[in-house]
Amino acid sequence: MAKVELELSSIPEGKNVIIKWRGKPVFIRHRTQSEIEEARSTDWKSLRDPESDEARTKKPEWLVMLGVCTHLGCVPIGEAGDYGGWFCPCHGSHYDISGRIRKGPAPLNLEVPQYDINEVDNKMVI
Ligand code: FES
Repeated sequence: MAKVELELSSIPEGKNVIIKWRGKPVFIRHRTQSEIEEARSTDWKSLRDPESDEARTKKPEWLVMLGVCTHLGCVPIGEAGDYGGWFCPCHGSHYDISGRIRKGPAPLNLEVPQYDINEVDNKMVI
């Protein structure tokens, strides 16, 4: 299967990038320090789909997820919703800054695909 390579230095802090991978949108966010702190201080064990931010990221500043709502597959909107993350306008699912479902009908967190970060050349391979 084709892999996608991405130059991480081209994505400024606090910005989202959407790429296409295997016909699906992939969201990549370069998170700010305060977003990382918010994501990590959430009481994740009480969430609908309990997952720690640490388990969802390889490096805290990079969040990588499939841009496919886990309800019925719409593409959520970035920097929106009640939890500062993504909002799916189809039926109103709110995802937080770790892509975890917080409110609305979606049953699961946004899926994290397999990816690697090459520290030497600062590239991400999905
Ligand atoms: Fe996203 Fe229904 S498809 S809330």
